[in-house]
Amino acid sequence: MSCGTDVRQLKNERPVSAKFDTLKTDFRLALETAGGEPVEAFLGEFPWDMPRRELAPRSLPCLEFLVDAAHIAPPWAQPLVSLLATDGAAFHWGQTYTAADFGVRFMERYGWLEVFGTRGHFVNETAAGGVLLLGPNVLYPDHHHVAEEIYVPLTGNSEWRMGDSDFVPRGAGEVIRHASNVSHAMRTGSDPLLALYLWRGGPLAARSVVTGNAGATR
Ligand SMILES: [Fe+2]
Repeated sequence: MSCGTDVRQLKNERPVSAKFDTLKTDFRLALETAGGEPVEAFLGEFPWDMPRRELAPRSLPCLEFLVDAAHIAPPWAQPLVSLLATDGAAFHWGQTYTAADFGVRFMERYGWLEVFGTRGHFVNETAAGGVLLLGPNVLYPDHHHVAEEIYVPLTGNSEWRMGDSDFVPRGAGEVIRHASNVSHAMRTGSDPLLALYLWRGGPLAARSVVTGNAGATR
């Protein structure tokens, strides 16, 4: 290669299938680096060698915040966050809600990417894992679901609450666990939030029950 070859150009020249393997590998690296014992206990003997599901690329407006997320993510999260900032539009992003639920501004600043699960890039019927992305100044209101959940933020400066507690700041690498049907909410300030998530023990594609006010942005 020439010294002037752009790294982004090289990444875009990789076979498409390699991007999905890299997504899974980088997701696992970030999860295992930050997650420790809670994640090991949550996943158990996890079959990382999952078959791939063919999904068409689906981009979302919120992907514009991935560049800022890459700027503030810690070194251990860089492989995954940089991959998403560079190649994010190659993956199949989703949204559970609609503008009728939380408004247009929320929908422009919200999305998730399921790496594995019942609808993700890799097939798994017992657990789901992926990333949640929220843009700046977003309130994801109180909600709950049957599945147990773990979040690991890859960026700092977001605030989280569980049950009736006040919002508390959470840093990158913290493991946040929500038991089945426990209400939780998140909000961002000037920075976006990118976080790993894991679900198990309930319908893996279920829509959450939203109980908070749908004041989507501040
Ligand atoms: Fe949740």
